[in-house]
Amino acid sequence: MTTLSPTPETTPLAAAPVSSAPASPPPAMQLRELAFGAARAAALRAAAGLGVADALGESPATAEELARAVKAEPAPLRRLLRALSCYGVFAETEDGTFAHTEMSRLLREDDPHSLRYICLWCTEPWTWEVWPRLDDAVRSGASVFPETFGKGFFDYLHQDAGESAQVFNRAMTTSSVQSARDVADLLDLTGVSSVADIGGGQGHVLASLLEKHPAVHGTLLDLPGVVAGADARLRDDGPLAGRARIVPGDCREEIPFEADLYIIKNILEWDDGSTRRTLRNVVAAARPGARVVVIENLVDDTPSMRFTTAMDLLLLLNVGGAKHTRESLVTRISDAGLKIREVRPVNAYLHAFECVVPG
Ligand SMILES: C[S@@+](CC[C@H](N)C(=O)[O-])C[C@H]1O[C@@H](n2cnc3c(N)ncnc32)[C@H](O)[C@@H]1O
Repeated sequence: MTTLSPTPETTPLAAAPVSSAPASPPPAMQLRELAFGAARAAALRAAAGLGVADALGESPATAEELARAVKAEPAPLRRLLRALSCYGVFAETEDGTFAHTEMSRLLREDDPHSLRYICLWCTEPWTWEVWPRLDDAVRSGASVFPETFGKGFFDYLHQDAGESAQVFNRAMTTSSVQSARDVADLLDLTGVSSVADIGGGQGHVLASLLEKHPAVHGTLLDLPGVVAGADARLRDDGPLAGRARIVPGDCREEIPFEADLYIIKNILEWDDGSTRRTLRNVVAAARPGARVVVIENLVDDTPSMRFTTAMDLLLLLNVGGAKHTRESLVTRISDAGLKIREVRPVNAYLHAFECVVPG
């Protein structure tokens, strides 16, 4: 795939978008569109997979030019781009070329806020096998993964779906890197000399905090396969290695260290037993007065409800998990023995529950 550079032929006509689908169609059409949500998801996935957004440069390009760049047929590519442009992903212009929009730029791999891997993750092949069984999951309240694939989700991912596991890691990295800055900006580390990130993935949140606070030490705990790929800043001769400790482990079993501040971000989304065990293990590891900050997407009381409720249903299907309501998280945290001091937004889609381990 090549990126199309601006040419004299494509620059001057740069292009009023053709008026497309109405923003707010009547209810019967809205329902038809909702029922065809899979077509939208598939179109996004196809565009991300083909690399169309990466091939389109700053100037509009024809479907033929784009098709050559991504090695596709022009006519079906035009159909794909038109379908997406109805939703503001790419814009079709009056001269029949296609231009970037704010959303289509986010499909580029090199965009600083790229959502390419998140779009791929949300539409991975296994998702198309479990969505039709949502009614079963709603009846039983349990994951449909074991029945569909003969094993649990993470076993399937790591044993049978290596490419999907890679996409998962890239998607988690994207989302962690983007939210790590917001978390580092939010948290006041006055009086804190050690931070632990429980289920901290590859350590992007921890690295952001250590970079911002040069006197603070940090510990990253996650599953062995995950910390093996920890952020290079924390590993070996990385610039933060002297202040970072990497602990492979299972936070449902034990959290074998003390810290002034524990961060638990986007992990309390699995089965209820695992959530309760993890919170109890933090309380058991921490000394009285230690801070615990739980950071989660909420399915209520948030502007990102459409996205979060969709993730919530996917969690039901794949791991039998759930995103929390404000109340359900408050209950789990309080049941573990933590005192909640404050709940506040981190950004448009995350909330932080600031807690303390009582004396
Ligand atoms: C959605 S990711 C969130 C990662 C990170 N906290 C963040 O917000 O960027 C969930 C993380 O929980 C980790 N995890 C899952 N089960 C775990 C366990 N039993 N013990 C420790 N970490 C676990 C996963 O490996 C993954 O890194």
